[in-house]
Amino acid sequence: MSKIAFFSTRPYDRKLFENASESHTFEFFETRLREQTINLTSGFDGVCVFVNDRISDQVLKGISEQGVKLVALRCAGFNNVDLKAAKKHGVRVMRVPAYSPEAVAEHALALMMTLVRKTHKAYNRVRDGNFSLDKLTGFTIHGKTVGIIGTGQIGQAFCRILNGMGAKILAYDKYPSDKMKEIGVEYKELDEVLEKSDILSLHCPLTPETHHIINEKSLSVMKKGAMLINTSRGKLVDTMAVIEALKNEQLGSLAIDVYEEEEKLFFRDLSEKIIRDDQISRLMIFHNVLITAHQGFFTQESLDQIKQTTLKNFDDFQDGNESDNDVSCELIKDC
Ligand code: NAI
Repeated sequence: MSKIAFFSTRPYDRKLFENASESHTFEFFETRLREQTINLTSGFDGVCVFVNDRISDQVLKGISEQGVKLVALRCAGFNNVDLKAAKKHGVRVMRVPAYSPEAVAEHALALMMTLVRKTHKAYNRVRDGNFSLDKLTGFTIHGKTVGIIGTGQIGQAFCRILNGMGAKILAYDKYPSDKMKEIGVEYKELDEVLEKSDILSLHCPLTPETHHIINEKSLSVMKKGAMLINTSRGKLVDTMAVIEALKNEQLGSLAIDVYEEEEKLFFRDLSEKIIRDDQISRLMIFHNVLITAHQGFFTQESLDQIKQTTLKNFDDFQDGNESDNDVSCELIKDC
């Protein structure tokens, strides 16, 4: 029976995993796993972590010294794990490669449509007894050009939705998908996608290559007044550059479900606290910026999938089985 320590847990994680297995025992910690919390892993065989736990070389060294042999991610992205160090310290890394890509794609759609039709403003206005339509003019997606950066599982799900809405879809991916070409998605170079898109949505992983893929230069290439949507990872976007582009109206609107410095903010109730992050505070007061706190994945269907795959990962770890859910250095360039 393996002992697993869960980090970054919220009540819904506890509810999902408590009593979920007879083959493993679980303990739940609210805190993130990072240098300062290594000692909590003493006596555990594995740790189960989420998007904002920092699995650095130092953490991997520390937890392996405590006897931990598994890092199981309850998510798909693994940019927060130093895979080279995991190999060095003999720690196996596993993840949940897919959990309802449609959930994230549908959240991107919700963000896009909110900004397009200004329903965030209409909601407040009507509640205040103001039934005027003044300044609520939106635009129709049908016939607009939407650029997709990264056409993996989530990007493809979003392309299918947009295709149904009659949008023209341009995409940039190093590995174009034939299935997407068949439905009419046109693959172009990055700059052409930036130049021609009325709406740009990011669906590539965070890697050294994609870090700040949206920066001062790429923002200047984008169509003036375009919309940017990021449901992928915060560090794909240079936040300062985006704030400047919003201020000078080069960027028309922004919707983010992820944020560069989200680990200090997201998944917590800070409503009684002073927010010390000036960049998110600035973003929060633009009328044309919509922020959600990393909830793209958060549907019942995704949670069920995360639970099922994570429990299977624990079994495979315990039984020493190989798995397609292993993440290793060999999978990544620059590792
Ligand atoms: P995936 O691995 O199926 O697809 C990623 C795609 O990006 C691949 O087609 C790949 O070729 C492409 N890509 C890689 N490097 C690129 C580059 N330099 N330029 C352009 N394209 C590049 O991943 P999936 O499942 O579609 O997820 C995408 C990202 O969404 C994840 O890495 C994660 O960061 C994020 N995500 C966000 C969630 C949320 O709750 N907001 C939940 C789940 C994932």
